[in-house]
Amino acid sequence: MKPKKSIAPPLSVPPHIIKSRAAVPAAHRLDIEAILIPPSRIQRRVSELAHIISADYRGKEFVIIALLNGTVMFLADLVRRMEFPLQFDLMGVSSYRGGTSSGDLEFTRPLKLDIRGRHVLLVDDILDTGKTLRAVSAELASLGAASVRTCVLLDKPAGRVGEFTADYVGFVVPHLFVVGYGLDHDEKYRNLPFVGVLKEEVYQAVR
Ligand code: XMP
Repeated sequence: MKPKKSIAPPLSVPPHIIKSRAAVPAAHRLDIEAILIPPSRIQRRVSELAHIISADYRGKEFVIIALLNGTVMFLADLVRRMEFPLQFDLMGVSSYRGGTSSGDLEFTRPLKLDIRGRHVLLVDDILDTGKTLRAVSAELASLGAASVRTCVLLDKPAGRVGEFTADYVGFVVPHLFVVGYGLDHDEKYRNLPFVGVLKEEVYQAVR
């Protein structure tokens, strides 16, 4: 099957930003290798995405479903820039511990909103293998959504297992472990205002 085209084409992160170690605040230099996407760039891109999504969904029975916990910053900034009535709900998803295949997901917080007959925008922090968004999109379709599109702040195409393309993408990032602006490692770093690269030794230490 041919992969579908992304509606909001992603922006690549320029190499000079990847190399910007000096800009990491002193308090985080032990753990953070470099700032990948600074706060101003995140905010500009979120505004652009909100504008594109608003134009696509204005006048439709529209609902946003966001995945906990990594989307909290992105969701809050995104919806505040959408100038039309909308509803959103949050869903919890985690890898199923008792599962035999890595494709098994457990829904830890069910939806409260009725999405039957409504156009759903599924929002996540980062698209990596595609397992999460593939499974949640199927779940939302089975709950009767009129349509399901996906929106991610970050896309890591090098991690993909099988084909999956998000409809709205903020930034394409290299195959590195990233944290900040909602994304965590061991529940830390979510409050960083930028997206940064986590030092490998930090990541390896907790594994
Ligand atoms: P899949 O593989 O299902 O992954 O597309 C989506 C989920 O994996 C987590 N993930 C990350 N979290 N930094 C993070 O903080 C990363 O670089 C990263 N890569 C994948 C994340 O929970 C995401 O929702």
